[in-house]
Amino acid sequence: MPNSKIAGIGFYVPEKVVTNHDLARHMDTSDEWIQERSGIVERRYVNRHEDTTATIGAKAARIAIERAGIDKEEVDFIIFATLSPDYYFPGCGVLAQRELGISKTEIGALDIRNQCSGFVYGLTVADQFVRSGMYKNVLLIGAEVHSIGLDFTTRGRNVTALFGDGAGAVVIQPTEEKGKGILTSKLHSDGTYAEKLAYINPGGHSGYHAKKMGDDTDFGYDPDQEFGGLFLTQHMMDNAMTFPNMDGKLVFKAAVTKFPEVIMEALNDQGYTTEDIDLFIPHQANLRISQLVQRRLKLRDDQVWNNIQRYGNTTAATIPIALCEAWEAGKVKEGDLICIAAFGSGFTWGATLIRW
Ligand code: UT7
Repeated sequence: MPNSKIAGIGFYVPEKVVTNHDLARHMDTSDEWIQERSGIVERRYVNRHEDTTATIGAKAARIAIERAGIDKEEVDFIIFATLSPDYYFPGCGVLAQRELGISKTEIGALDIRNQCSGFVYGLTVADQFVRSGMYKNVLLIGAEVHSIGLDFTTRGRNVTALFGDGAGAVVIQPTEEKGKGILTSKLHSDGTYAEKLAYINPGGHSGYHAKKMGDDTDFGYDPDQEFGGLFLTQHMMDNAMTFPNMDGKLVFKAAVTKFPEVIMEALNDQGYTTEDIDLFIPHQANLRISQLVQRRLKLRDDQVWNNIQRYGNTTAATIPIALCEAWEAGKVKEGDLICIAAFGSGFTWGATLIRW
């Protein structure tokens, strides 16, 4: 069975730069607070009348396809990871397919809803498709447009300050080169804290699961409503229940534990240690998380790539954007051992080792 490799990579971030000072004009926050707690200096936002998650995903995809040296019609499957899809349904996979003009072959398209770990999960699915021989050119896109779904009042500052828009894409192909390509992936999830980093409404069931688990938080669930109209109520809108919510401290603590665990699991699986890693690309959730993980794994600064300072957290897009930037900067070279890892909403997390 061949391994699969990343044959082409690209990223796209919108031109509009939004600094911490810009946010401070809308809510009670400061450049100092945001930089100190998260490392973020600025992020990018799309012009909502020009771009969407699918269109920026397609922009990144065009670059990845060109760098893979294939024609768009040779893509034989699309995987699209996002938590901010253009529509409730259908997913962004088919929208990107249409946007790219991939039409001749009526290829399959699949959306992945795994939030921060969406790219790692998507890469693992692509890897399995390619290894099994089912597909030869899988296009994997991770893209987010957060800027249209955030609360820009002080109420939402703990979430809004962190997130930005952006997209990354890779083309996965088989490789016959022994020991090259994707070596292993380890994926995990634990639904215990599903509502602790979530976008619950409009979802139809408004925190039903949380209630069942004994969580008294008001997510807008109305047990008297028999059917219909559950998607948006005045109560939800009046009480900021139509925005993402996050228990930052809980997520932070879980992240700094699970990141090292899953990375060590992947390294042990292949008989490597942290010293063997040439470049570690952590999901860009918070610079403090990345730095703590780096310290726990005893990685040198030159072994880690962070760019959250410039883009904020672009969720499913952070890893392909950072990987692409690092590759463009000459930090990802033939034969290097690359480790990518993510943790986030679900909770879901995972790590992949790639021999470039
Ligand atoms: O990729 C998805 C995964 N997400 C994450 O990994 C996020 C993990 N969590 C975090 O990154 C951090 O918990 C945050 C950056 C979200 C928050 O940092 P923190 O050090 O945990 O702060 P906190 O939530 O304990 O808030 C401290 C104070 C609070 O005020 P009081 O209650 O002490 O008066 C907040 O209301 O800071 C306040 N605060 C802010 N102040 C200014 C929260 N957000 C802001 C803000 N600007 N943007």
